Amino acid sequence: MDPLQAKQQMTLSEFRSIREFIYAKSGIFFNESKQYFLENRLSKRLAELNLRSYGDYLALLQGLQGGPELKRLFVEITTNETSFWRNPPQIEAFQNIVLPDMAKLARERGQTRLRIWSAACSSGEEPYTLAMICHDLRDTVLRGFTVEILGTDISDKVLAQAQDGVYNAYTLRNLAPEQLQRHFVSLGRELYQIKPDLHRYTSFRNFNLVDYVGYRALGAFDVIFCRNVLIYFDEAVKAQVLKAFHAQLHPRATLLVGHSESIHAFNTGFELMHFSKAMGYRKRA
Ligand SMILES: C[S@@+](CC[C@H](N)C(=O)[O-])C[C@H]1O[C@@H](n2cnc3c(N)ncnc32)[C@H](O)[C@@H]1O
Repeated sequence: MDPLQAKQQMTLSEFRSIREFIYAKSGIFFNESKQYFLENRLSKRLAELNLRSYGDYLALLQGLQGGPELKRLFVEITTNETSFWRNPPQIEAFQNIVLPDMAKLARERGQTRLRIWSAACSSGEEPYTLAMICHDLRDTVLRGFTVEILGTDISDKVLAQAQDGVYNAYTLRNLAPEQLQRHFVSLGRELYQIKPDLHRYTSFRNFNLVDYVGYRALGAFDVIFCRNVLIYFDEAVKAQVLKAFHAQLHPRATLLVGHSESIHAFNTGFELMHFSKAMGYRKRA
């Protein structure tokens, strides 16, 4: 298709086939109101690849050479909205309750490492928020621990941004000026880069949350943040992902999900933790 031509329209049957494919590969479920969204995101790819129909695009994805395009598809279809200090009451609960609790449990187990997983970390704002907190507590609550923060996502584009750790002034608006100065280096033109002493807490890698066999290789965690991603999954995928998180957490370790993402309905082996204006889940012993 000529890129200058009008956007290629997606038929309902094409939408349903692509939606099935996306669901099988990522767990992300698009209901019928999202046909226009997918058409918008993918028509550009059709034009770039010179393909005549979404059926041809699907055939490309399913073919032997489909791997690289699948990664590109994940970049196109994901919603990566995030921010520093997102949901402050929950972040405060992490700082004041969860971390001290986890450090205590880890000491009892003889651990010298604390491992935190930001599952679906988008462009890094969440893991760097956690790194700022851990850095500030390194000589008190976290004395004697090495802290590792793993950030994973399905989109290579946001992972590259997270790895760079460069943000503009608007993205950093939730930080106090003192935090900005302490943890970032100004690059000029309203851009700031995370300092190496914060970056060193983190590592980033691509991980698809529906890769159920891949979880084990990530190792055990003291805290898992999985915020604002379960909403894209249906009940069956949510249940599987929660089961996989459960298996990766130490006994009595903590899972923090987004504030609209109750996991009550699932018999998950977690108990609810009430914080001030926030919630979390603790793995039952
Ligand atoms: C709305 S962002 C949330 C970012 C961050 N957790 C927060 O709360 O601010 C959702 C992220 O989930 C990622 N995502 C969606 N499906 C995924 C999957 N199957 N595996 C891993 N990440 C996924 C998207 O790429 C996106 O970056």
